[in-house]
Amino acid sequence: MEAKLSVNRQNAISRIDKRLYGSFIEHLGRAVYDGIYEPEHKNSDADGFRKDVKEVVAELNVPLIRYPGGNFVSGYKWEDGIGPKEKRPRKLDLAWRSMETNQVGIHEFAKWAKEVNAEVNMAVNLGTRGIQEAVECLEYCNFEGGTHWSDLRKQNGSVEPFGIKTWSLGNEMDGPWQIGHKTAEEYGRLAAETAKAMKLVDGSIELVVCGSSTSKMPTFGDWERIVLEHTYDYVDYLSLHCYYGNKENDIGNYLAQSLDMDRFIKTVVSICDFVKVKKGSDKQINLSFDEWNVWYHSNDQDKELEPWQVAPPLLEDIYNFEDALMVGCLLITLLKNADRVKIACLAQLVNVIAPIMTEKNGDTWKQTIFYPFMQVSNYGRGVVLTPHVESETYGSKDFAEVPYIETIAVHNDETDELVVFAVNRSEDRDIAFTFEEEGFELETITEATELAGYDKKDTNATNHDLVKLKEKSEVVLKDSRLSTVLKPLSWNVIRIK
Ligand code: AHR
Repeated sequence: MEAKLSVNRQNAISRIDKRLYGSFIEHLGRAVYDGIYEPEHKNSDADGFRKDVKEVVAELNVPLIRYPGGNFVSGYKWEDGIGPKEKRPRKLDLAWRSMETNQVGIHEFAKWAKEVNAEVNMAVNLGTRGIQEAVECLEYCNFEGGTHWSDLRKQNGSVEPFGIKTWSLGNEMDGPWQIGHKTAEEYGRLAAETAKAMKLVDGSIELVVCGSSTSKMPTFGDWERIVLEHTYDYVDYLSLHCYYGNKENDIGNYLAQSLDMDRFIKTVVSICDFVKVKKGSDKQINLSFDEWNVWYHSNDQDKELEPWQVAPPLLEDIYNFEDALMVGCLLITLLKNADRVKIACLAQLVNVIAPIMTEKNGDTWKQTIFYPFMQVSNYGRGVVLTPHVESETYGSKDFAEVPYIETIAVHNDETDELVVFAVNRSEDRDIAFTFEEEGFELETITEATELAGYDKKDTNATNHDLVKLKEKSEVVLKDSRLSTVLKPLSWNVIRIK
């Protein structure tokens, strides 16, 4: 089978906002406690954070990390996480029915995030709390000094404000599972008034308002419209969340689900633009896909866990090779929509549906999905070029026409490098792939790698080094035309100068 990707320098989708490669750390399971924070571990720093974990996080080059939830935030009192650690309260976390010790709070997390070179995307609790607490949290974090909350921050050790730029107005407020679940009207009003007040404290912040928890919610569509009708003038981004899985063990249909993500994004863009027209506004609302990933492997085992544990092993999906291909398809889909998706967060980062796993008192290791995310985050910077793709298609259970190839090219105008990302979705057919460009003068292939040749269900759980990048051979560049073979079920990255 053959497939072709053509691009033209003059024809770009958008400059990529680096926050497209954000991630997420929630007070959930072993993400914080026994994940990034394990004071007893031999590799921990003076603050109790694992240095080995920080090093692996840094490899992913995530510019933004959403915190502290997730469902957790809808019952969270941010003040419980400040002041002397020994005085911080132990609280029931109702969202995950766990015990929250509050040994990590905003000071510790902000410092950790800075060390891994990431900004914090801070969520406020609009489940059990409201405008006042959100405004106070912002004042505590960002106000210079001379007020009760900003001086308390100084007293607690941070003289300089945290300077948090991106804020989320609650989490998944459309979901009946959410503590303080609201109707679109109720949430829209609360979010608008909270946003208004927060921007009075700090006009430089950007705000993300909650869209639907998935496109399968019965309120999807109406929720976005109503919430935006209330909040349009005060917010900057609308959120989308989606998790995928291969429960039916049908890889053709599984890998096709990135088409669902594409449709979801385009539908939400239409709703944003509909409200824009209705309001006669000049302002454009962009999207924050602030939870996306594969999540299904751990669903059954999570039902067996005893409640009220500190750091229970929740949502510990062990990813296999086919999940890495799926994450590759989802990343390419986000890039294809980079004109409107400005923020995206791989949910999550450590231990909880994560690319990075840690063992208590032990090692840290990389899941299969680590590799596509690492490569796109590091090399997918600059401008994403409009892809013209020629490919055969197949039909799957839920999708009529699925291209065998999912592909995109990015031009990094700082390093003047062109990078091609491609997934071959076929289980048994090679793709003879050509890449053609206009407007660049390409001379050398600087790196070509692939994830290929594994069993679909191979994981890195036992042999932490099993699924990993390999050098890709037989990549030929001649007269600005690149040709190579994409092996069946493969993730491919080719960097050209
Ligand atoms: O990321 C795990 C959970 O998924 C988050 O807490 C919630 O927002 C979503 O339902």
